[in-house]
Amino acid sequence: MPRILPLLVFGLPLTLAVPALVLAHGDGAPQAIDTTGLDPLGAEMRSSNPYEGNPKAIEIGASGYNKNCARCHGLDAKSGGMAPDLRELEKGESVDTYFLTRVQGGAQRDGRYRMPPFIDILSQEAIWAIRTYIESEAAKDPALAAKVN
Ligand code: HEC
Repeated sequence: MPRILPLLVFGLPLTLAVPALVLAHGDGAPQAIDTTGLDPLGAEMRSSNPYEGNPKAIEIGASGYNKNCARCHGLDAKSGGMAPDLRELEKGESVDTYFLTRVQGGAQRDGRYRMPPFIDILSQEAIWAIRTYIESEAAKDPALAAKVN
């Protein structure tokens, strides 16, 4: 008994706590998205968004955004203030490149991730589709559209 008791006292709560943590992440866990229907881009990273304005990319990007980004950056790409409002990012090649590298690398501060890196989760096709979707949301707001164009 003296050997088993500590296991019961300390081991049991631990084994219970681990699945609870996994569950707590639930559908917030990053997930790959199916980009069937978009032109495949190969292994070399593009510096600008090849899908700009592409309706299929907007559709795929909306789903990819809602699964992976909305919990921090807000539903419909409207930030609730927890993370930057991505609709405010300007259009054009330099910001396209910035977007791709930021999403792949995530955001770290003081050694902790404030945003997870998506490099092993999302293909460049998926990331460009999300960029296309966010631009389409920005275009719905005339004040924003004037700012980012
Ligand atoms: C866990 C929360 C979280 C998730 C999930 C998340 N982000 Fe972020 N993101 C942040 C935070 C916080 C920042 C600001 C980081 C900083 O300032 O250091 C940020 C910054 C960014 C930036 C830079 C914005 C700027 O104004 O410079 C981009 C681009 C971005 N995120 C895109 C995405 C995309 C696309 C997804 C989904 C694929 C995503 N993020 C998922 C929290 C998150």
